[in-house]
Amino acid sequence: MSAIKIQEGVYWVGVVDWNVRSFHGHTFNTKRGSTYNAYLIVDEKIALVDSVYGPFSKELIANISEIVPPEKIDYMVVNHVETDHSGSVPEIMKLCPKAKVIGTEKCKLGMTRNYYGSWDWQTVKSGDKISLGKKTLTFLEAPMLHWPDSMFTYLPELELLMPNDAFGQHLATSKRFDDEVNQFELMDESAAYYANILLPFSPLVIRKIEEVVKLGIPIKMIAPSHGIIWRKDPGKIIEAYLSWARNETKTKVVIAYETMWKSTEIMAKRIADGIASTGVELVIADVAETDNTNIIKEMLDAKGYLIGSSTHGNDMLPQLAGFLAFLKDMKPKGRLGAAFGSYGWAGGAAKNIENKLKEMGVEPVLPLIQCQFVPDKQEMQKLFEYGVEFAKRLSTK
Ligand code: FEO
Repeated sequence: MSAIKIQEGVYWVGVVDWNVRSFHGHTFNTKRGSTYNAYLIVDEKIALVDSVYGPFSKELIANISEIVPPEKIDYMVVNHVETDHSGSVPEIMKLCPKAKVIGTEKCKLGMTRNYYGSWDWQTVKSGDKISLGKKTLTFLEAPMLHWPDSMFTYLPELELLMPNDAFGQHLATSKRFDDEVNQFELMDESAAYYANILLPFSPLVIRKIEEVVKLGIPIKMIAPSHGIIWRKDPGKIIEAYLSWARNETKTKVVIAYETMWKSTEIMAKRIADGIASTGVELVIADVAETDNTNIIKEMLDAKGYLIGSSTHGNDMLPQLAGFLAFLKDMKPKGRLGAAFGSYGWAGGAAKNIENKLKEMGVEPVLPLIQCQFVPDKQEMQKLFEYGVEFAKRLSTK
């Protein structure tokens, strides 16, 4: 994709990664691909805000070259060390070795440990400014959104916020702006991104948004480092972030399980029948078969988590164990849960799931439920009633 002017003197010069399907060491299924956004600001001085993932360096350089010779870059702003944004910095710095590299102190440390470049650094703190002529780079540290080095860059003259990963989505598209894309896909990917990356940092998200509001910074456009640019309605994603960060949920249940010979699956579906009979919304997912990124996204607005597994040895099946480890890391708050599972001769899975739910702060609202081998007619009725009762607890708590 060629460079695109996004405001007077500001150009998107990033790349679209149409084919990426796993991200962050396979913890994120990027089913709609992604983009790595970089922004070129052309004034009396020239700044490049962020770069792209290393394998795409040539595309970035070609896009910059459509606007200015890359040798003319004066400032290489690194909002974030992670390699999907900083991977091309060494290639850029080869072309403009006299450019200053701008980032937080922690960014400098991280960049040095990643690339070992002998570059001219200028570290910045919140409130620091660099004049480019008519436009001013203004910096706002954003530690743990989502790494310690993270920083936002703001152009007050254009009311343009470049917050790197925040407000982004993994969405490959030939379009660059929020008003040009399918709104369901846009918010679906924004939610997946928040649930799988930013949810653990929710208190910091709220604090940062409150800080920006208190500073009275007007924001006309948000240009993140992944996905589309919010030009029509930046308030829409800010409101969504506040809702997600506050752990606002609805009366909805996610039933996530892993099954060995389908008994646990039979249980999951029967409990689901009971829940559905009350009218409560639900999603069922076998974690070994379905997209885990999507399950975590479904859990973002769900108040109820029902987790099940067959017993293998004395414990839950391994893919469910891995799923629960990831879910615990995401630190969901204010959820209600319960555990279920089948076993042959000794249980263990359901009890261990219940313990994991307690460890991550999910409150068990019903005692666990188990079946030996395949549930009989009476047990099928009990499972149905279990679902009805779980739905009731959600509606009343
Ligand atoms: Fe998109 Fe934290 O990198």
